[in-house]
Amino acid sequence: MKIAATRIEIENLLLPSRNSGKSIGFVPTMGALHKGHISLVSLSINENDVTVCSIFVNPTQFNDPADLKRYPRPLESDQKMLEEAGCDILFIPSVEEMYPNNDYSLLNEDFGVLDKVMEGQSRPGHFAGMITIVNKLFTYVNPHKAYFGNKDFQQLTLVKYFVKEHHLPILIRECPISRDTDGLAMSSRNRLLSAEERQAATLLSRSLFKVKEMWTGNNITELMTFVETEFAREPILKLDYFEIAHFETLQPLKTPISPDTPIIACIASFAGKIRLIDNIKLQ
Ligand code: PAJ
Repeated sequence: MKIAATRIEIENLLLPSRNSGKSIGFVPTMGALHKGHISLVSLSINENDVTVCSIFVNPTQFNDPADLKRYPRPLESDQKMLEEAGCDILFIPSVEEMYPNNDYSLLNEDFGVLDKVMEGQSRPGHFAGMITIVNKLFTYVNPHKAYFGNKDFQQLTLVKYFVKEHHLPILIRECPISRDTDGLAMSSRNRLLSAEERQAATLLSRSLFKVKEMWTGNNITELMTFVETEFAREPILKLDYFEIAHFETLQPLKTPISPDTPIIACIASFAGKIRLIDNIKLQ
């Protein structure tokens, strides 16, 4: 696996492949890699001649400075996992490389309501930082396809919207959520959980699976109460939000719902200081 740390290096490394018409797949990450990340890398390897993975803990998308500070950065083991997966190029830029001269100015993209609800409401500024860095990474790597996980469903929705709005020639590939055997969605932040918190955290996926089981299309209030009650019983967790929303517009839904409306249930909760998210498609 080759490593690039600057814009010039990544552009130069990719130039021969680009010039000979090879396809380039790109997996942007913030590192602390797990099998979920690797599933994206593997998909890219299957679908492209060259796969680039980036690791950059993007300071502008952290609305909580403590969250940025504690974010895990196990670069050596990340590198090993990518080597073993067969990734071709790792891009690990510095903060100075991505935000030269301390210029942290952000894109001012109008996403309508898409970035105002759920994560947008709970983490002000998060999506402006996210889209700014994704746009810079897209410019530097200039991939044919880019791979994003459904774990961060709202992020994926915004990236798809941005690519469409700006007519970027990049195909966004949506990848399924990888879960631990007990259902917990894999996340870099899971390694920060205490044993007790890790155990309690399964309530996110357990309640989503249960909601899917209970789903009839006309019982939203009941389902909201069900989830709130489950979380109220678990003192280690603090529910941030539970939303049942339109899959594309992300608008919260009112009953009754027609069977052809695409619907997703999204959840966010604190386990101690650590914030976790998950979601499930209901119909
Ligand atoms: P990060 O949280 O490292 O995630 C990188 C990619 O891996 C995202 O597309 C995310 O949705 C996906 N991913 C994470 N956990 C997953 C899981 N359990 N199953 C499937 N996919 C999963 O998302 C970011 O980084 C950043 O916001 C980034 C896009 C890199 C911009 O900084």
